[in-house]
Amino acid sequence: MELQVSAVWFSIALFLITAVLTKIASRRTTNDHVCTLPPPPEVTLLGILPSLLTKGPEDTMHHLYNKLGSAFTVSFLWKRTTFLVGKEASNVFFQGLESEVTQGNTNEFTVPMFGREMGFAVDYATRTEQTRFFVESLRPAQLRSYVGPMLEEVESYFAKWEDEGVVDLKYEFEELLMLISSRCLVGKEVREKMFGQFCTLYHQIEEGVNFVSFMFPYMPTPVNRRRDRAQIKLTGILAEIVRSRKSFNRAEEDVLQHFIDSTYKDGRGTTEQEVSQMILGLIFAGKHTSAMTTTWTGACLLSHTKSFNAALEEQKEIISKHGDKIDHSVLSEMGILHSCIKEASRLHPALPTLVRQVKKDITVRTKEGMEYGVPRGHTLVNLVMVNGKLPHIYKDPEVYDPNRFRPGREEDKVGGKFSYTSFGGGRHACGGEAYAYMQIKIIFSHLLRNFEMELISPFPKPDWTKFLPEPKGKVMVSYKRRRLPTN
Ligand code: HEM
Repeated sequence: MELQVSAVWFSIALFLITAVLTKIASRRTTNDHVCTLPPPPEVTLLGILPSLLTKGPEDTMHHLYNKLGSAFTVSFLWKRTTFLVGKEASNVFFQGLESEVTQGNTNEFTVPMFGREMGFAVDYATRTEQTRFFVESLRPAQLRSYVGPMLEEVESYFAKWEDEGVVDLKYEFEELLMLISSRCLVGKEVREKMFGQFCTLYHQIEEGVNFVSFMFPYMPTPVNRRRDRAQIKLTGILAEIVRSRKSFNRAEEDVLQHFIDSTYKDGRGTTEQEVSQMILGLIFAGKHTSAMTTTWTGACLLSHTKSFNAALEEQKEIISKHGDKIDHSVLSEMGILHSCIKEASRLHPALPTLVRQVKKDITVRTKEGMEYGVPRGHTLVNLVMVNGKLPHIYKDPEVYDPNRFRPGREEDKVGGKFSYTSFGGGRHACGGEAYAYMQIKIIFSHLLRNFEMELISPFPKPDWTKFLPEPKGKVMVSYKRRRLPTN
């Protein structure tokens, strides 16, 4: 029954979303070129509804892929959504030109969340430059300076746990990752003086991530109105911090500072509003994705003794080499832990589908050797959740096996470009991947070193009723403090 409700939600949402996007696209595109190639095989939503109701979205999409190949279209009334699977079909999705395949229309709902000076509110050229600011602020040289503050946040968070107890990992990691974001991205003014207020307002902005706000971002619903008020207030608070740093000539080591110091190609500096809104956008890109990946990693490790023990042994070895010291290079020695996180993210990608809009007729080439024409106006959905489970890329794809990414196997590399898409790929690949691994590794190295843990709730299923799917329900873990010897 629960599966049925989730599946109904998923299908209704997907097709309403498609409806709105199609409408927007048909208003904005003018190309009247007609596709001459055959279209991908097509099924109707009604035809797949029984499968969605009984098997759920993930199994249904796998089934359609097995039956129809790596590009297929699902239609609902006059709307068409084309689903792509695997590296060959994904090529145009990840590498297509902005004039052919765009994110723009699909992310309109983020405009009132963050404001009109960044991201999908500004023209493509400005957005590209702002993405450069994001990426530069998360480069290895910058990342090194975030290790210390991350460690402090993690240590002080877990210091508040009792000697033993029971916690909901999902809740704990959301809290902790917000603390880390506020410290490393936003900076100490917020972290030290107004963290509570910041979280309350940010949470009100996050509430704008729901199916209704996605479809009608400007509708004056109570949630949207609260989101708008919070956005104005939070941008004001952040702009004040930017002003104060500038007027006292004070510089900090955080991403906010990097945005303050960034300049566009024409030499123009960033404004207070732009800096504030970019920070809100960056928190959004990184917080939920990281929290969910951390939770899935916890659930996977705690239900796979062999992988858990391997990660624990690795920590013991690192301790015997470096003692308590953790820095950027020590983190890079945690290869087993890295693979454990990567594998959890393969099986449970924080973004299981990525969406684009076709602006101009495109050609999709598939693994099966087909060439399809996909006309403008279609919504494109990249099925990340299926990409990660392709048996010709991943051996026993349903099995949690972090060793598949270790030297000697490296199934994703052997598989080639776009075989592993949990962090996206190509033109809009995740700019925060290294930062995300860093914070998740710091969290788990601390937990492995300091706690015995046991998963006491069933292994979670994905909750498809959420706009951004997450582990369903609570992920309950019992813990007991211990200390690995550091000599
Ligand atoms: C485990 C955690 C994370 C996962 C699974 C993840 C996943 C992704 C994915 C799949 C995309 C591509 C979206 C698309 O193609 O439509 C993306 C984009 C992005 N991510 Fe992440 N992300 C994570 C953490 C982070 C963090 C921590 C940050 C920053 C602090 C971040 C910043 C970004 C940015 C700025 C983009 C947009 C890049 C662009 O449009 O050019 N992400 N992420």
